[in-house]
Amino acid sequence: MYICMCNALRDKELAAAGKDARTVADVFRRCGSRPQCGKCLPDVAQIIEDVRTREHGVQKIAAE
Ligand code: FES
Repeated sequence: MYICMCNALRDKELAAAGKDARTVADVFRRCGSRPQCGKCLPDVAQIIEDVRTREHGVQKIAAE
């Protein structure tokens, strides 16, 4: 599925680029592109978080 329409980046390639990425900019750089309109940035940030959770077992704990 396409996440970034401006750069034609799919979720799988963003997830691959998101491994050990610290920022959204890192992910775009690894994909050889740059953010354009910015609409996808929250989704790319979520992909980075999902990859971290999956790979490092980091989980958010809801504050109660
Ligand atoms: S959709 Fe990703 S920069 Fe526009």
